[in-house]
Formats: sequence, C-alpha cells, structure tokens
Amino acid sequence: MSGNGNSRVSSTESMDPKGSDERSIVNIADVRALGQEAAERLVAAKTQEALRFEAARWLGGDGRLRRLFERMKQIEPAERKAFGQAINGAKKAIEAAVAEAESRLRRDSLARELAVAPLDITLPGRCGAPGTFHPVLATGRELIELFRSLGFEAVSGPQVDTYGHNFTFLGFPKDHPATDMQDSFFVAGGGAGDARLLLRTHTSNVQVQEMHRREPPMAVVSAGAVFRRDDDITHSPMFYQLEGFHIAKGISFAHLRGTLTRFVQALFGADRAVRLRPSYFPFVEPGAELDISCPFCEPNRSCRVCKDSGWVEVLGCGMIHPNVFEPAGIDYERYSGFAFGLGVDRLAMLRYGVRDIRWLYANDPAFLSNFPAYVAGGA
Ligand code: DAH
Repeated sequence: MSGNGNSRVSSTESMDPKGSDERSIVNIADVRALGQEAAERLVAAKTQEALRFEAARWLGGDGRLRRLFERMKQIEPAERKAFGQAINGAKKAIEAAVAEAESRLRRDSLARELAVAPLDITLPGRCGAPGTFHPVLATGRELIELFRSLGFEAVSGPQVDTYGHNFTFLGFPKDHPATDMQDSFFVAGGGAGDARLLLRTHTSNVQVQEMHRREPPMAVVSAGAVFRRDDDITHSPMFYQLEGFHIAKGISFAHLRGTLTRFVQALFGADRAVRLRPSYFPFVEPGAELDISCPFCEPNRSCRVCKDSGWVEVLGCGMIHPNVFEPAGIDYERYSGFAFGLGVDRLAMLRYGVRDIRWLYANDPAFLSNFPAYVAGGA
C-alpha cells in the first residue's frame, strides 16, 4: 500500500519528532496540554493555506486526534471515559481555534483590501478628446470625394515601385536631368535598370499601372505618400499627392480646364481665379501648371506665400503624351486623355494658412487641434 494517502501521512508523522507524541500520552493532563498547544499553533496561523494544513493535521481523518482515540484500548477501562472526554475537550479547543483563526484571517484580508486607495465610483468618467483626421488626410479625403462626385474612380497604388513605372514609362529619357528634379530614394538591392526599386517620387506611377492594366475609357484618381530627397520650409522628404486622369474618345484640354476649375472652386470658393501656365512634364503634351489667385494676399502688404506675384501654383497637368499611351497599348489615334497631379499637403497649407510644411508632420497636438474636425461627406 505504499504510495497511497494513508501511508504517506503516517510516514510524515513518524519523521516528525512530535508525531510520536500520542504514543507516549497515556494521561489526561497530557491530552489537555496537547490540545492547548495545538490550539495556540492554529490561532497563530499566518495564511489560510497554513491554517488549512495545520487543521488537517489535527482534525483530519488520519489526524492526531483520531489516533489518540485509537489508543483508548490501551487505557485502563476505569479511566477510559475521562480520557475520552479529555480528547473531546482537546478537539473542541482545536475547532474553536480554527474558527477563530479563520475569522481573524478573513478580517485581516478585508482590512488589507480596504487599506489600498479607494475607488471613488461617484466621480464622473473623464472623456478622452475625440480624435479628428489630420489636416492632410482630411484634405485628401475631401478631394477624393469631390472627384468621385465628378465620376472618377478612386484606386490606391504602390509606394515602392520600379524605376520603369516611376520614370521610363512616363517618357523620362534614361538618366535625363528631369529625373534630378525628383531626387529619389532607391531601395538597396532592388534590381537594375527599369526594374530598379525606389520609393515613388510622385503618384504618376499609378497612371502607368492603371493604363497597363485596363482598357479605356477610364477616369481614375489616386492619393498617397510620395518621397523625395528634399527638406526645407516648403518641402518635406515625404509628402502627399493626388493624381487624376481621364482617358476616353474626344477628351480635350477644355475638359481638363473645366474639371480643374470645378475642383478649385469647390475647395477655395467660387470667386477664386484660376490660370493655366505652359510648363514641361515629359508625360504630357501640352503641359501646364495651374495657379490660383493667392488666398493670403492683403492690400498694401508684401506676401511671402506668393512672393507678391498674386498667384500660387497648385498642380501640374496636361494632355497625356502618345509616348505614355503607346507602351500601355492604348491607340492614341482613337483615344485622348488629360492628367493632373497635385500636392495634397500644399493644398492643406493654402487652405488653412500653414506656412511651414514641417508643422504638418511635427505631431504637435496644440497645432493639430486648430483644425476643424472633418466629417465624411461634409465637403
Ligand atoms: N508628377 C508631377 C510631379 O510630381 C505632377 C504632374 C504633372 C502630374 C503633370 C501629372 C501631370 O499627371 O499631367 O511634379
């Protein structure tokens, strides 16, 4: 039977010097003294576990009191009754000690719980300030909604793309100085030639991706982060652009002008003047830049934003070049299209009067809390 509960307990008992006590106890005074000692040990128990363990040693099915009862046979018959009463007395003393220790431990633990800082459930909860969209994100979303209302489809494009999609398919001649305007971040180990990987320098890569993927007619807008090696008060190494293009039969420069005028007036008000100025981009012909009358100019004061020209540049645009259509397999005899690309940060700055682009990325809550909350659909 070795290994079962009983033999384990008795072997523990026999290793305990006190375990043999009941063998030598044959008189009533000793039984009382034993009960007294047990009661004292129990009352002093420091934890519930210690108390339970100690109580089982005395009161358990194989406990010491039980074993004292078993010794009754060895007692003179005349003394048995008194001996039995003494054991019962010891048992009561031990049970009382267990009850007392239990209630003391319970009181102690309650006192400990109450001693920690109180939770005042009468205090009203503190509300966190509701978040809003960052002014650049809010402006981008408004623009996307506006162009969607004009029939454009919104898509997302890759931020890491190939040299081919970012430059070559847009008509940039190999290593042409025009690529210097967009000083680029290349991805280490990212292929060679047209397969070389870089962080896109503009969203015009989406034009290439979409034209190679689908058939005209198509009207697409796409907004997202772009990257250039630039860092001063009007340039950040990462900024946001929105690209739009429309390819169908019979698209003309008048469609471009109409679409862009509609967008400027939605954003800056119907009295904002618009002008198109000839400019060069390898992927459009003719190419132009769109200026709006400066929203910051004040009478008789010099204006830092437009440098007193009265106009601020908002975007680049033009009629898509046959060199871009051709590798995409689009027949430029049948189709024509316009394209434009604008700086979302720049528009947000113009709109909200932010003079240094770096403020937009400083993550300063005091600065960001100045902007009106943007509500989807409220553009
Ligand atoms: N990708 C040009 C840039 O980042 C902007 C641009 C100009 C986009 C003309 C166009 C466009 O789609 O037709 O400077």
